[in-house]
Amino acid sequence: MRGTDLDAVIALDAAAIDHNHTLVPLISAPAVERCASRRYWAGMRRRRDSRAFVAADGKALLGMLCVDVRNARNRRMKIRRWVYLHSLYVEPRARGRRIAQRLIRHALAWAQRHGAGGATLEMAANNDAARALYGRFGFAVQEVMMARRLRQSALSARGADPGAKVVR
Ligand SMILES: CC(C)(COP(=O)(O)OP(=O)(O)OC[C@H]1O[C@@H](n2cnc3c(N)ncnc32)[C@H](O)[C@@H]1OP(=O)(O)O)[C@@H](O)C(=O)NCCC(=O)NCCS
Repeated sequence: MRGTDLDAVIALDAAAIDHNHTLVPLISAPAVERCASRRYWAGMRRRRDSRAFVAADGKALLGMLCVDVRNARNRRMKIRRWVYLHSLYVEPRARGRRIAQRLIRHALAWAQRHGAGGATLEMAANNDAARALYGRFGFAVQEVMMARRLRQSALSARGADPGAKVVR
């Protein structure tokens, strides 16, 4: 990412956050995520275990993908070192030109060169484009997170379900 304008990267990540919010409005809070994103990118140049891959047309940033290297703390973990992919975003006007495909290919090659034995990522379950894209690279669903809202007022006013016990 050398030479790339940090503000442009942060702007692209903000667009990625907003897009993700349209897919998972129940669990994401764009304003909070944008703050975390600004902190993340501000520390990016100091981190040796992260890399950002960008696609640019002159000075205009068209897409990006970020990779964090993670190491297992437990010796028994099957994979001792893996990468976590995040912040994949391609500007709407540049989509369908295999930019994401190229970013992923570069990121995975970089990960292999740095000794990673696996790669993980998270995505909205209904992000069909990303699912098809990552599927082409051999990614498969391993875990599913489910979510629902809980009404606070009704439960706290009447107390907990008498049939349920709380173990302390
Ligand atoms: C998903 C996204 C990154 C794809 O970027 P892109 O550069 O247009 O993708 P590519 O041109 O490299 O597409 C490669 C493959 O991905 C899949 N794909 C991409 N867009 C797709 C779509 N809208 N619907 C279904 N499959 C799609 C296809 O398999 C495609 O191959 P094909 O063109 O031979 O069919 C882009 O749409 C985007 O930025 N979306 C918003 C952010 C986002 O969802 N990020 C992923 C978070 S996990």
